[in-house]
Amino acid sequence: MKKVLFLGIFVSLVLTGVYAVITLYDSNLKPGRMYQTPAIRPHEEPQLVMDKRTIADTKSEALIKELLKTDFTLKPMGSALLLAKGEKDYRAFCFHCHGPNLDGLGTVGQSFSPLPTNLTNERTAGMSDKELFAFISYGGKKAPALASSMSVESREAVIQYIRFKQKTTL
Ligand code: HEC
Repeated sequence: MKKVLFLGIFVSLVLTGVYAVITLYDSNLKPGRMYQTPAIRPHEEPQLVMDKRTIADTKSEALIKELLKTDFTLKPMGSALLLAKGEKDYRAFCFHCHGPNLDGLGTVGQSFSPLPTNLTNERTAGMSDKELFAFISYGGKKAPALASSMSVESREAVIQYIRFKQKTTL
């Protein structure tokens, strides 16, 4: 009987120890846990109305390429409304990989190689608006091509938001 009691105390001590270690590890995990990442479920948002420049067929792709050839300039910065849209759309389309602080520490992206880029670093800050627009549209090695998921306005708004964050971080 004593043996069983002893074993019981020993096992509960070990379990408490393991629980404490996991909790400590969890609270120091920089990218955070999946449940902390915003999840936009189907039909929570109004259906995206595709405009002509959203890639759906080869004709539209030609239009996008045309758009990228021309001088792509963002709508004038400073509209709080546009910035708010940029932040909202960043949360919907980029947050899970690039993280809440745009530093590349998004929960989902941590299993990727290459890892998601820190969007507030010098390199990304040095990319032109056009290059950013093209990258978001066509994607990278692991970065998804978002041209058929995000409207042109949404991509523009996210670039505005990234620029704003770069200014306040760099
Ligand atoms: C599924 C994960 C994922 C999502 C979602 C994602 N990215 Fe990325 N992103 C990456 C990865 C991984 C890289 C690293 C480079 C690569 O894949 O080519 C990257 C790189 C980048 C770069 C750096 C490009 C360069 O040439 O250095 C930019 C800019 C970028 N992402 C912007 C965005 C924006 C803006 C969004 C949202 C509209 C977004 N990404 C959504 C995974 C993601």
